[in-house]
Amino acid sequence: MASTKKVRELQQRKEQIQLGGGEKAIQKQVAMGKMTARERIIQIVDEGSFNEYDLFVEHDARDFGMERKILHGDGVITGTGTIGGKPVCIFAQDFTVAGGSLGSMHARKITKIMDHSLKMRMPLIGINDSGGARIQEGVNSLAGYGEIFFRNTLASGVIPQISVILGPCAGGAVYSPALTDFVFVVDNISKMFITGPEVIKTVLGEDISMEELGGARVHSELTGNAHFFAESEAECFDQIKKLLSYIPWSNISLQEKKEVKDPQKQYDINKIVPADKRLPYDVRDVIRAVSDDSEFLEIQELWAANIVIGFGRIDGRTVGFVANQPKVLAGVLDVDSSDKSARFIRYCDAFNIPIVTLVDLPGYLPGVDQEHAGVIRHGAKVLYAYSEATVPKITVILRKAYGGGYIAMNSRHLRADFVFAWPDAEVAVMGPEGAANIIFRKEISEASDPDKVRKEKVKEYIDKFANPYVAAAKGFIDAVIEPRETRRSLKHALEVSGSKQIGMPRKKHGVPPF
Ligand code: HXC
Repeated sequence: MASTKKVRELQQRKEQIQLGGGEKAIQKQVAMGKMTARERIIQIVDEGSFNEYDLFVEHDARDFGMERKILHGDGVITGTGTIGGKPVCIFAQDFTVAGGSLGSMHARKITKIMDHSLKMRMPLIGINDSGGARIQEGVNSLAGYGEIFFRNTLASGVIPQISVILGPCAGGAVYSPALTDFVFVVDNISKMFITGPEVIKTVLGEDISMEELGGARVHSELTGNAHFFAESEAECFDQIKKLLSYIPWSNISLQEKKEVKDPQKQYDINKIVPADKRLPYDVRDVIRAVSDDSEFLEIQELWAANIVIGFGRIDGRTVGFVANQPKVLAGVLDVDSSDKSARFIRYCDAFNIPIVTLVDLPGYLPGVDQEHAGVIRHGAKVLYAYSEATVPKITVILRKAYGGGYIAMNSRHLRADFVFAWPDAEVAVMGPEGAANIIFRKEISEASDPDKVRKEKVKEYIDKFANPYVAAAKGFIDAVIEPRETRRSLKHALEVSGSKQIGMPRKKHGVPPF
């Protein structure tokens, strides 16, 4: 049995180290509206489940007076715990200790817990709150980042990696979150940037605050770097738990089946989509109308809102939804919405989550801005992601499916397993007005009443192509269904796709249009 003296000594050592940078630094942290690193971990994991490792690790820097400095835990807390009863690995940088800066031992603590999460196939949650590379440690700290980035890449597609930005995440440090699957930010607390305001002022002579440069809203609305935006740390932790309730623990873990309480409680699916093709609606209502308990966890809600992505459940199992959003830019595909959906499709595919695609779009967004921003290269990512995905892929064409948009949105031609269409669906090369103006230009311009002829020709085009039956006659659409049959059709399609097996050509990896 351990002697009482030794036990007391252990307790004292632990208590001292667990104080991090000390009372004053903690007060500064709290005054900024932030929790301490330890509080954050305790709030995220199940009560009493956190087990800390490497508490006694010390830094090994010997320059710039570092040899005389004690940095408790070397500025980072690492360990394991459970969330919803299931194991996770977690680390949290402690800003109260040398600004949470990353030195070689700090990095080694992080890479050790990363190795554990990969080896044991469990999610990794990293809380970033740091001034970046520890300046006094020079290349040793750069090496530490490199080791982290390498592991982020190895673990990609094997275990879920979650980054939580709860303070500064400056310089090259931003690239670890950028390599992970989901980035969480909190208003007024998260700051992410490669070069800070001081450097920008020196080099470019421009004044900008940290918030304007890389605050939570910037990354949620403008850059798309963040996937979840919260008003407070507590809300952020709830979002993390919610996300984890949907996703598999690794790429080899089987999906759990959750109990379904009240399917389709609030939404009358027949009333959501207006018959007039020009009228907008919120496609999230369709998603909620087909999801268990009308629940949907949206991802990147504030960025590229012309496409909606996120998780729901059908008959107790998680599916990834990808849906054009007619109420924003008519639901077009553009540079950002292509990036957003392509990455999500790859996530779902990597973790064996079936994909349900809801289609209503006029095509890719036309314009010089989009062409010059690389809509060809970005748009190709959607085609690539759907084509290479081998999970069950189900499409429902709600209304418009025009041109490249029809092909890109998980058409039969990209190997959708099931394609359903509602009776109002239109599958065509382009909208009837544009099509009639082009193919009947001569008849219209030479007519004594061009408007009358134009209307007749538009009607002729609608009668011929603006319906689901031409595509259904070719077998490109498997079934034309009433809106109210959608959930049942999806449920059945998923049931009969459970053992999907398809082969792909042998290769090391493809070369996607990154
Ligand atoms: C060593 C650091 C540090 C760093 C902060 N500290 N950043 N120590 N290396 N990178 C220390 C401070 O000296 C201070 O120590 C304590 O942390 C708190 O910092 P403050 O400046 O007092 O806090 P605050 O006013 O809140 O400002 C936070 C900050 C600022 C905006 C993050 O500290 C800052 O600009 N830091 C430098 C950011 C940066 O340029 N990092 C390097 C990026 S390059 P005391 O002892 O006074 O409490 C990089 C390359 C990585 O990361 C490349 C990888 C590929």
